[in-house]
Amino acid sequence: MSRCEGFDFVEDSFGRKIDYARVSLTDRCNLRCVYCMPETGVDKKECGEILRYEQIDEIIKALVALGIKKIRFTGGEPLVRAGAADFITQCIKKYNDIGFYITTNASFLGGYAKQFKEAGLKGVNISLDSLSLGNYKSITRGGDLYKALEGLHKAMECGLPKIKVNSVLIKGTPEGQLLEIANLTLNYPIDVRFIELMPIGSCAAFARENYMKPDILFDIMPGLKPVSPEDASSPAAYFKLPGAKGKIGLINPISCKFCHSCNRIRVTADGKIKHCLHSDEEFDLLNGGIREIILKAASLKPEGHNMEDRSITRDMKRIGG
Ligand code: 5AD
Ligand code: SF4
Repeated sequence: MSRCEGFDFVEDSFGRKIDYARVSLTDRCNLRCVYCMPETGVDKKECGEILRYEQIDEIIKALVALGIKKIRFTGGEPLVRAGAADFITQCIKKYNDIGFYITTNASFLGGYAKQFKEAGLKGVNISLDSLSLGNYKSITRGGDLYKALEGLHKAMECGLPKIKVNSVLIKGTPEGQLLEIANLTLNYPIDVRFIELMPIGSCAAFARENYMKPDILFDIMPGLKPVSPEDASSPAAYFKLPGAKGKIGLINPISCKFCHSCNRIRVTADGKIKHCLHSDEEFDLLNGGIREIILKAASLKPEGHNMEDRSITRDMKRIGG
C-alpha cells in the first residue's frame, strides 16, 4: 500500500483512493426484508457488542485524519438506534469539511427530515422496493408503505438534497410495479436506482432463486437514454426517461463489476472494518490502534469480487449495504 505522507488520503495497493466510509450504527431494523433478514429478525446484540457513540466518534476522527471526505450512516436501519439522529446531527456540525449522508428505509425519516436539513445532511438514500401496499408489506414482512412514503415526502418538502430511492430487483415483480417506481423520476427531482439482488449471508439462497436480470428495465422503458454520472466512483450507470426530473440508475454488482473505481470501506456496528462488501475478511477496530487498523484494512483491499462463485457469510443488515 502506498499512503501519501502528510495524510491527504489513503490509497490501496491497486492505486484506488479511499475517501468514502460507510458507518453502520446498528444491525437492527424495524423491517424484515425477505432478501436481508431471516423472519425472526436479528439477535439483539448485547449492549457491549455494539460500539458506543463515543467509540464511533473516535473512529470517525481517525477516518477524517486519513482523508475520508464522505461518510454515510447505515444500519440495519440507523434511525432505530436511540440517539441516532442527534449523533448524526452532531457529526455533521463537528466535522464540517465532511459530506454526511444516510441510508434509511424512511419509516422514521418524517420525524427527522427537518433536523437533518437544518444540520446540513448532504443526501439520503431511501430503500423502497415497491409502491404497491401489498407487495411492500410482503417484501418487508409487515412494513407500512405509508410511513416510508411519509418519510420520502417530508425529505422532499424539507429540501433535503440528493434524495435517491434504492429499489432491489426481485424476480416476479410485475412490470407495472417497476414502472411505478421508475416514474417517480418523472414527477420528482429524485433518482431511482435499481439494484441487482446479491447473494449475501443467510439470505443468499433467496437471492439466487429470485435474481432478476436488469435488462427487463430497458424492455419496459424503451425511452431510457444514458446520462453521465455526477460522481465517477458511483457504482450506478445512469439513464433518464424523456422529460424526467430525476435519473434512473442501475447498480449491477453481479453482471457488471465496478470494483476498479471502488473508493469505500465499511465500519460495522460491532467495530469491524470491511474493505470489500464481498469479502469475509474483517479487521477488528477494538483490537489495536484505530488508525493502524484502518490503514491495514485499506492496504489489503482486494482488487475485485466474484459473486458467481461464492457468497459472504455476514448478513447485509450487519454490514449496512
Ligand atoms: N442485494 C441487493 N441489495 C440489498 N440490500 C440489502 N440486501 C441486499 C441484497 N441482498 C439493499 C437494501 C438497501 C441497501 C442498503 O442495500 O435494499 O437499499
Ligand atoms: Fe431493514 Fe434495509 Fe434489511 Fe430491509 S434491507 S430489513 S429495510 S436493513
